[in-house]
Amino acid sequence: MVLAQSFQFLPFVLLFITLATQSRAASPEQWRSRSIYQVMTDRFARTDGSTTASCASSSNGYCGGSWKGIENKLDYIKGMGFTAIWISPVIEQIPDNTYEGEAYHGYWPKNYYALNSNFGSAADLKSLVNAAHELGIYVMVDFVVNHYANWGDANIDWAGLTPLNSESYFHPKCWVDWSNQTSAEQCWMGDGYVPLMDVNTEDPNVVDILNNFARNLTATYGFDGARLDAAKSIRKDFWPAFVSATGVYSQGEAWFDDAASLCPYQDYMDGVHNYAMKTHATNSLSGSESMASLAAAMNDLVSQCKDVSLLGSFMENHDNARMASVSSDIAILKTAAALTILSGNGIPIVFYGQEQMLSGSSAPYNRQALWLTGYPTGPDTLYPYFTTLNTFRIHVSTSDNTFLTAKPSYSAPTNNVLSVRKGNTMMYISNEGSKAPSTTLTSTGWPLNTVVVDVLSCQKVTTDGKGNAAVKMSGGLPVVLGLESALVGSGLC
Ligand SMILES: *[C@@H]1O[C@H](CO)[C@@H](O)[C@H](O)[C@H]1NC(C)=O
Ligand SMILES: *[C@@H]1O[C@H](CO)[C@@H](O)[C@H](O)[C@H]1NC(C)=O
Repeated sequence: MVLAQSFQFLPFVLLFITLATQSRAASPEQWRSRSIYQVMTDRFARTDGSTTASCASSSNGYCGGSWKGIENKLDYIKGMGFTAIWISPVIEQIPDNTYEGEAYHGYWPKNYYALNSNFGSAADLKSLVNAAHELGIYVMVDFVVNHYANWGDANIDWAGLTPLNSESYFHPKCWVDWSNQTSAEQCWMGDGYVPLMDVNTEDPNVVDILNNFARNLTATYGFDGARLDAAKSIRKDFWPAFVSATGVYSQGEAWFDDAASLCPYQDYMDGVHNYAMKTHATNSLSGSESMASLAAAMNDLVSQCKDVSLLGSFMENHDNARMASVSSDIAILKTAAALTILSGNGIPIVFYGQEQMLSGSSAPYNRQALWLTGYPTGPDTLYPYFTTLNTFRIHVSTSDNTFLTAKPSYSAPTNNVLSVRKGNTMMYISNEGSKAPSTTLTSTGWPLNTVVVDVLSCQKVTTDGKGNAAVKMSGGLPVVLGLESALVGSGLC
């Protein structure tokens, strides 16, 4: 989002830098076609390439993942068809081994102007971004500007924080009451062991400092996108100038499960993580919510959000239980994968390890070291499945330039099936898992007497003289239909 009106107050030189940055950087338009792989830097790959270095699934400490480690494994990410990565926050963290562990995740800042040396050097970070760019992969950095952290809530070392080195830059201590939005914005997250002191983002001096920091960090390392941590915990009208300062596409974390609360954030940033889909879909895939209810929630997003194609479509992340802890049924895990990539309600985001069906539940168990899997890419993993899904999405976007912006629509043709219609594609997913009986599903509105292909099973059907296609869904596995003519050259089926 570029807010032209914010420029008029800037001195000419700053204006020039801002425009120069924006002409280089990646816009929402450029991000729409991307597919993001979310990397937890400490847990993805080590500089030494080890596949045996210990990292207990219960570990709350640093395990040794690094920016060099990611750089050396970019081919693994690219091989699944991802065209962007989101990495952990890069800034310096509190060094302590607290009662709640270490800041390996990156959400306990101490110094915004220094890097987290556990992940490598400035040269390593620049090298990662350059290497990603050479492979056509964007890099999204995670901004944490809502708070700083401290080990203990007595005797906070305010002077030790950079650059907001005085208590006067912070809201007075009160613990967040999530039912009260003012409290969510002005009180403190965390607890007495690791309080997250809430930055006073109502103070104009603080706002200037944070905006300059955003401009500097993005430009210095050449980042292409900004993930906005705790977006719900800062007043909405703080964000437009911050987003403009980054000069890149932004996606915020506003943890709301309903369109009415979530969508308004899109007026202040380019996109938000699609928590409404994630929550309803997890409920549906675990049987506690009907597919009709999921379809309604998805349609609400389309009608209430400014542009659903710029949301973030995800089923796993660092704050939620892995899908393989919700269900061990491979059909359900494939369904979650297909929904992530082809929901139509956002830019796909796959959390590292979803392709290996890692099965941890709450943090830190959902943050296992990926290197302990040995990075297999074969049919026992979801790696080739993600490659197919991403390949299909890229191919239909390329062969039909209206696909990405086409409004999706959702319905529940049976109690256990959701249909997703978008442009000249159709997806069916089931919440019954492998035990689902075979069923024939008929969709309308296709070109007449034309071959459509399920790219996941390669079953082909010819539409009738009225544009109906009847396809078979078996074993609860997703069906993803596209026109055969649109798949030429894709290598699919
Ligand atoms: C960016 O921040 C670094 C400190 O992290 C500082 O050395 C540098 O001068 C800043 N650059 C600009 C253009 O403000
Ligand atoms: C909401 O939180 C704010 C900030 O802590 C507080 O001043 C206000 O009284 C709270 N409102 C209610 C209704 O509790």
